[in-house]
Amino acid sequence: MMRAIASNQYGSAEVFQHCEINKPQPKPHQVLVRNHATTVTGADIMMREGKPFVGRLFIGLRKPKSTVLGFEFAGEVEQVGEAVTRFKVGDKVFGGTTHLGCYAEYVCVNENDVITTIPDNISYEEAAPVNGSAVTVMNFLRGLGNIQANQKILINGASGGLGTYAVQIAKYFGTEVTGVCSTPNVEMVKSIGADSVIDYLKEDFTKNGIQYDLIFDTVGKRSFAECKKSLTSQGMYLSAVLNPTLLGQMMWTAIAGGKKAKSSATGMLPIAKRLAYFEEIKTLLATGKIKTVIDNRYTLAQMAEAHRYVEKGHKKGNIVITI
Ligand SMILES: NC(=O)c1ccc[n+]([C@@H]2O[C@H](COP(=O)([O-])OP(=O)(O)OC[C@H]3O[C@@H](n4cnc5c(N)ncnc54)[C@H](OP(=O)(O)O)[C@@H]3O)[C@@H](O)[C@H]2O)c1
Repeated sequence: MMRAIASNQYGSAEVFQHCEINKPQPKPHQVLVRNHATTVTGADIMMREGKPFVGRLFIGLRKPKSTVLGFEFAGEVEQVGEAVTRFKVGDKVFGGTTHLGCYAEYVCVNENDVITTIPDNISYEEAAPVNGSAVTVMNFLRGLGNIQANQKILINGASGGLGTYAVQIAKYFGTEVTGVCSTPNVEMVKSIGADSVIDYLKEDFTKNGIQYDLIFDTVGKRSFAECKKSLTSQGMYLSAVLNPTLLGQMMWTAIAGGKKAKSSATGMLPIAKRLAYFEEIKTLLATGKIKTVIDNRYTLAQMAEAHRYVEKGHKKGNIVITI
């Protein structure tokens, strides 16, 4: 048996129940991970609520198909299926799985999913958030944005889960980075490497006349229309939050010349592509080029509290559940 947080219905954070369920058994190509840390992000809130409604076609129409949520894990391989070749018992591993099940002491993961070994200098708590947030940032900045050294980049939402990785990864690529956040987070965003910081409570970056090669709105708070004047003639607007207006702008700007608008659903990229980004980020973590910013740590039993905090929309970096 193992401890887990289960939810048998969609709804508020109160749907979670702390329970004992059967420990999963790995299939031939799976590893059983003794999970030491998982995370709560915006994606977890959407899974818990069953929103947007259309998503229920995949995750269960009336109630969640997977009662144990949780995308990300960091732990130790306790058992391997008979066909596993990439991992052995005792390996420290981290990653993410769209099959969920990470709000638990043990999770089975396909060896060909987004999973790799943890660098020695990284704790389980620092490792757990990497798959969702840092891989997304690599997909946006390098995959979509083709980021280049010496470009001027603006990161909106620089203090969040995506934002704190985005500032550091953009600096790693040799760009000049401006972070946008509110007053309490200005010093933190400077401390992770931003060359300058705009406090959105005091200044509107879309009205100060400065232009950027890339604007990455990690929190989807500023539209392409609002940002257009702040982009250079071939500049690009990237938003992690897709909406129908942006979809239209993406299609239009893809065929027209000049400024572009782009977005992507990172979780829907092929596993091989996400794993390649993940391995690249692992190297950046191992060499100290980037680090994971952690806001609060919660226990499994405090899952509802962690969800209520994340849904306020003001976390600083990442929320980790220590198991
Ligand atoms: N497309 C994809 O592939 C993909 C993948 C992962 C996540 N996402 C989405 O990306 C979004 C961001 O995720 P996240 O984990 O980074 O979010 P998050 O950590 O919850 O974002 C919180 C941060 O947003 C900042 N913020 C709030 N209002 C702001 C505003 N008006 N202007 C600038 N910053 C503001 C907050 O700073 P203050 O407290 O200073 O306001 C806080 O630090 C979510 O909607 C998530 O679903 C998309």
